[in-house]
Amino acid sequence: MAFIEISNIEKHYGTFKALTNVSLSVPKGSFITLLGPSGSGKTTLLKILAGFEGVSSGRVLLDGRDVTMLKPEKRNFGVVFQGYALFPHMSVYDNVAYPLKVRRKSSAEIREKVERILSLVQLDKFARRKPSELSGGQQQRVALARALVFEPDLLLLDEPMSALDKKLRIDLQEELRNIHQQLGTTFINVTHDQEEAMHMSDGIAVMNQGRIEQFGTAHELYRKPQSRFVADFIGKSNMISGQLETNRAGALFSSKSFKLSISCDQIEGKSDGKADLFIRPENILLTPGNVSQLQSDVVLAGEVVSATYSGDRALYLLKTADGRNIQAYGNARDGALQPGAPITLAFDGKDCILLT
Ligand SMILES: Nc1ncnc2c1ncn2[C@@H]1O[C@H](COP(=O)(O)OP(=O)(O)OP(=O)(O)O)[C@@H](O)[C@H]1O
Ligand SMILES: [Mg+2]
Repeated sequence: MAFIEISNIEKHYGTFKALTNVSLSVPKGSFITLLGPSGSGKTTLLKILAGFEGVSSGRVLLDGRDVTMLKPEKRNFGVVFQGYALFPHMSVYDNVAYPLKVRRKSSAEIREKVERILSLVQLDKFARRKPSELSGGQQQRVALARALVFEPDLLLLDEPMSALDKKLRIDLQEELRNIHQQLGTTFINVTHDQEEAMHMSDGIAVMNQGRIEQFGTAHELYRKPQSRFVADFIGKSNMISGQLETNRAGALFSSKSFKLSISCDQIEGKSDGKADLFIRPENILLTPGNVSQLQSDVVLAGEVVSATYSGDRALYLLKTADGRNIQAYGNARDGALQPGAPITLAFDGKDCILLT
């Protein structure tokens, strides 16, 4: 059984549906991320889990127990929300000790636990400071320590790192990952930073307009997106529209400039008619000039529009002879191709994602 079972949650604000039919199973000890654009319902779902918001319908089960109506303080969850501030008049130590004092722990236990968690977030030397005497990243780590010190069953994090600069964010991500591994607590983290989600999570729930579009590992979302939204939102991809016609061997995808045979395993659950083919920039082979003798399933002529360097490869924006804009990576060790240079694009059906 899942540790946290979110079952058919709906959340309405008047006539507006902030969450529609949201279900998710969270295994014990996992690091789950809610990823989605602004307004997709991430914070709303997290508030419902924390008990700060009620549901319109649906249930939340913790270890099989219905906690949907339980007060936040009865849930034993740690929370780090945006704007869920530290107590400014208290020292770092007292901020972190607070949840234990509320729980009436002995002073010996409080001292031991606060010291241990402060050392885990690498703030032991700052115990006597006030929050105002700390950097943004240090304050976030105090908030994290305060949320973890009482050994919660679940830690809920709402974009705890969004206000920090990139370097600090990456350091803190690493630290969060280590803390998760050391404590074994179940984490649910909210972000709209795709890289952060891919880097940190055992499972990612991609949210869009109040729904979970897809739940899976970073690899599954990237390799097997089940909707146009996910295919487009996770990583870069090129979309080619066309028609699908299934046959005994699989299917045939036809666009205005090429036909492509699609194998059986790629068409499971797909129907004839309008279809879109997605191809990732790294799965397109680029060859300078107009080359026709390539072994790939699809070969298209095109020209370079622009190039963006990243290390020894370049991301090219290309225009095909049939007028499509395509992004593809190319080797740029000897310098990138110039705009206007003729180029041949080639890819195989096995690397394509088909959505109907
Ligand atoms: N109390 C409320 N009353 C009415 N609408 C609300 C309320 N709280 C949230 N909403 C709406 O619900 C939708 C989801 O909001 P939510 O805060 O969950 O988004 P989010 O995914 O966390 O976005 P962001 O990435 O910007 O934080 C938004 O359209 C928001 O305007
Ligand atoms: Mg939010």
